[in-house]
Order: sequence, then structure tokens, then C-alpha cells
Amino acid sequence: MTSTLITNIGELMTQDLERRVLHGAAVVLEGERISWIGDTAAAPAADQQIDADGRAVLPGWVDSHTHLVFAGDRTAEFEARMAGESYAAGGIAVTTGATREASDYDLTRLLLGRVAEAAAGGTTYLETKTGYGLDVEHETRSARIASGVADQVTYLGAHLVPAGMDPDEYTDLVCGPMLNAVRPYVQWADVFCERGAFTEEQSRRVLTAARDAGLGLRVHGNQLGTGPGVRLAVEFGAASVDHVNYLDDDDVEALAGSWAAWNGPADARSQGTVATCLPACDLSTRQPLAPARRLLDAGVQVALASNCNPGTSYTSSMNYCVTTAVLQMGLSVGEAVRAATFGGALSLGKHVGQDTEGKRAVGSLAVGHRADLQMLNAPSATHLAYRPGMPLTQAVWRAGERIV
Ligand code: NIG
Repeated sequence: MTSTLITNIGELMTQDLERRVLHGAAVVLEGERISWIGDTAAAPAADQQIDADGRAVLPGWVDSHTHLVFAGDRTAEFEARMAGESYAAGGIAVTTGATREASDYDLTRLLLGRVAEAAAGGTTYLETKTGYGLDVEHETRSARIASGVADQVTYLGAHLVPAGMDPDEYTDLVCGPMLNAVRPYVQWADVFCERGAFTEEQSRRVLTAARDAGLGLRVHGNQLGTGPGVRLAVEFGAASVDHVNYLDDDDVEALAGSWAAWNGPADARSQGTVATCLPACDLSTRQPLAPARRLLDAGVQVALASNCNPGTSYTSSMNYCVTTAVLQMGLSVGEAVRAATFGGALSLGKHVGQDTEGKRAVGSLAVGHRADLQMLNAPSATHLAYRPGMPLTQAVWRAGERIV
């Protein structure tokens, strides 16, 4: 097993249980795991050594919300939006048409290319969703292809009711034969609970069926207006509710209440519903930015994710999400980095408290955790916001292997 020692780290943001930020630190990667963290002066020998020369090292980004299994292009829709049109869920149908027509080979090739782009930007752990198949055959195909590439896969048959189908009959399909067919390939189920997509009642049916099938739950909620999404997510104990742009006081209270009994990262049992904010999507759709500051102040655990998809957010840049969270959403750099690493892991059941041995945890740097880390060509993570848009990702390791 090869070991790598990284020395002279200017700022090491661990996101570990104590949320330590170390200076002059060193890390040893051994095989897929982190085997040592401490002062450079006390570091053990390793097979190879890399001098960080004062650069910052942080956990690789955990992107907990993407839609990467698709074909086709929606530039025209984006241009219309920039000219003043509003985003509507109906655009999903355009991508569904193109995705159904693509071969397995092409869909896989496109997905691999997108995951490689994400990795080049520092993403080392990634969830992706189905949702551009919308019939049994194509949802199953998307789930199968995704399961061979992404770290975790979410079933999103409840993304849009296909044109010409009765919404309740389609919901029956999503909750029955489609769910059964995708089940071997997915860990999570999701529903787009929004005007123009699925009603509260239909969403409730989807969440119930998915829970009965043993899947973890996620919800797309409160993206385009206030509505029942957040409330349903909390009621069903969903791991995450994503978008959360339009929240009333009751929504914030419900989310905060879901964390009231939580005793911190080591407590996996009384975890609440993570609020996943998607700033790149908010900007691309010209929606108000999700109120991440308000949520954090209320005691809600927040994640930041890219929502990379062809309709509302065609970027997998987590650097961009972190930068936006700092410059425009009122988060400190530490809060934004935490949301983009630990927050995503928390929402995906992969942070330290959720793994009895701590061995497979991602989104934080501690002995035994997966060696997923990134080095910035900068002395601190603050430079992500201070030098927005600059190519700061210098090196990336995924499960101990240098991939950038
Ligand atoms: O998360 N909101 C629903 N789903 C995607 C958009 C998908 C699309 O328009 O193609 C989202 O923004």
C-alpha cells in the first residue's frame, strides 16, 4: 500500500468533530484512507512526499445534488430566460426527449465526461439523479448507468408528469412498477413537489412508497414559490430538502425543529433534514438566493450543492457555489466550505457519525476517513471568495489516488 505525506500545509480545514483548522500541518494518505494528521515537524516518513509550500488543503467537495444523466442541450431556453422569461418545470420534457433517444454508450460517455469535469473542480464524492427517463425503461436505464459511475444515485421518476399522461396514473407508475425496476440501482428517492410538477398529495404517495421500499428520502421543495415541500420533507424525515428558495417562518421553524434533538456530528440517530442550497441554480433561474444565513442562524444544517443539470444550473463548479455563498448569501468562508463538504456528506449519510467505524466517512479529514482532499493554489480557502473565478484547484485526491 503506497503512502503519501503532504507537508507544510498553510491552512488545513479538517471539518472533523472539533472543526479544527490547522496551520503548518501535514497529512499522510495510506491506500484509500487518511492515516495521520498533525504538525509537519512531527510527521512520519512515507513512500512519497509533497511539499504544499503553505497552500491550503481541504476535504474534496461533496456534491449532494446533481442531474448528470442526460443528453441534449437547452441553450435556447437559457437565452430566453436571460431575455426575461421565467423558468418552468416543463423544460424537463425537452431533456427527456433527447435522453430517451441517446444510446447507452452515449449516455455513459456524457456522464463520465461530466463527472470528470466535477473532479477537476475538486469534487470527490457525488450524488446524481435519474429523472430524464420518465418511463420504466428509461428511468431504469438511467439508474443503471448512474450506478456504475456516481457514488450515490437518487430515483427521480417524480420529476415531471410526461405530456399526455394522467398525473395520478403516472404517480401510480412511479410508486409501483418504476420504483420496483430502479430499486436495485438506487439509494434514494426524490420528488419535485412544486406547482407544475407534483402536488402535495402525489408527493406524499411517492415518499410513502419509496420509504416502504427501504429508500432514503430527498425532496425538491420551495424552488419556485412557497408550498408544502419543506413541511413534507420534515414530516417524512427526509435526509434533505433541496432548493428552499421560498420559505415562510413555519418552514424555517420545521427545519430547525428537526435538528433540535441532534447532539452534533457524532450523533447519527437524531439527525434532522438538511437544507440543501443550490446557488448556481438560483442565479441561472434568477430566483432569490436561498436564505442560507437565516437557516444557519435558526440552527438548521445546510449543504451547498451544484445541481448540475441542463435546465437550471449547467455547472458542476462547487468553487462557484462556495464563492456565491460567501459573496451573496452572507456565509463566512468557514460556513460555506463546511456546507460544501460536511453538509453534503451529512445529507448523504456519509459523515463520521453515520458510519460506526468512521472509516468510510467523506467530507471531513480525520484518521480513518476516506482520503478525499483538495489543495488550493492559495494560502487559505478565503481566496475562493477573494479571487472569484480563478483556477485555484491545484491538486485533488480521491480515495487516496491523485486525480488532478
Ligand atoms: O433541480 N427542479 C427540478 N429539477 C431540476 C431542473 C431540471 C430541468 O429543468 O431540467 C432542478 O433545478
